[in-house]
Amino acid sequence: MGRIVAVANQKGGVGKTTTAVNMAAALALTGHRTLLVDLDSQGSASSGVGASSSSGVTVYDLLVNDTPASSALCTTGLAELDVIPADRSLAGAELELISEEAREYRLREKLEEVRSGYECVLIDCPPSLGMITVNALSAADSVLIPLQCEYYALEGLTGLLDTVERIRRAFNPALVVDGILLTMFDGRTTLSRQVAEQVRKHFQSLVLSTVIPRNVRISESPSHGLPVLLYDPASKGAEAYRAAGEELLTKILKTSSSESRAGGHSEQETSTGQRA
Ligand SMILES: Nc1ncnc2c1ncn2[C@@H]1O[C@H](COP(=O)(O)OP(=O)(O)OP(=O)(O)O)[C@@H](O)[C@H]1O
Ligand SMILES: [Mg+2]
Repeated sequence: MGRIVAVANQKGGVGKTTTAVNMAAALALTGHRTLLVDLDSQGSASSGVGASSSSGVTVYDLLVNDTPASSALCTTGLAELDVIPADRSLAGAELELISEEAREYRLREKLEEVRSGYECVLIDCPPSLGMITVNALSAADSVLIPLQCEYYALEGLTGLLDTVERIRRAFNPALVVDGILLTMFDGRTTLSRQVAEQVRKHFQSLVLSTVIPRNVRISESPSHGLPVLLYDPASKGAEAYRAAGEELLTKILKTSSSESRAGGHSEQETSTGQRA
């Protein structure tokens, strides 16, 4: 059963889509069946992997209509990577969901049908904590938080962790934080180093040891409809996302083996849902 990982941070432009796209590519390139779910009306994750939708069905139809997830699956240039795409129609879902029953579980219910076909399902969340992100967090087994190495990095993180806690209590008791991934790190600046140090001091082992550097190849790759791992596999950016993908995979495998040992319950957790 595929583990569902929501890539979330309500702060804009911190590297959520870049992380979701490239982590998904890293897993797929190492032979792991992966599904990328685009939950942003900008559709950047869909275009970032060159998704080609023949049906025109998007994640909006799953959230708002009776459409099954299988009808939204699109192939990509990578054999092991599929995408459920998003487009501008998703912007309306936030309002339309307000009047729906069990609206927080829409995505979770729909993903049930397809998740067994994948080892990992990565969800690219929008930069907000609205109903769409609530759907992602209710569907997810875990959250991966990209954090940009800049002055206001920690601003909003408390809000996000509070939201995760609220979702755990109300909708999804098994939700855990898989980790914080430092992005756009520039080792030449004192600020980047200070932020990284501060985040590690505060969140300790929750922070992935891989750091994603600021790398021009990463920022160029979306305009070619390719993850950086395919656009320039030898670049520092590709190298970093391969390492981050391996770290995520280790966490996934560790969790699934401890779950099977514990008969379906996740390993020991702290009160905030972070793995002890
Ligand atoms: N490591 C990096 N090096 C250089 N540029 C990067 C890096 N990571 C992301 N970028 C660029 O920074 C911008 C923001 O990244 P991205 O779209 O992944 O953030 P986001 O959190 O998904 O944004 P939004 O909140 O708008 O959805 C993009 O133009 C992307 O190409
Ligand atoms: Mg994005």
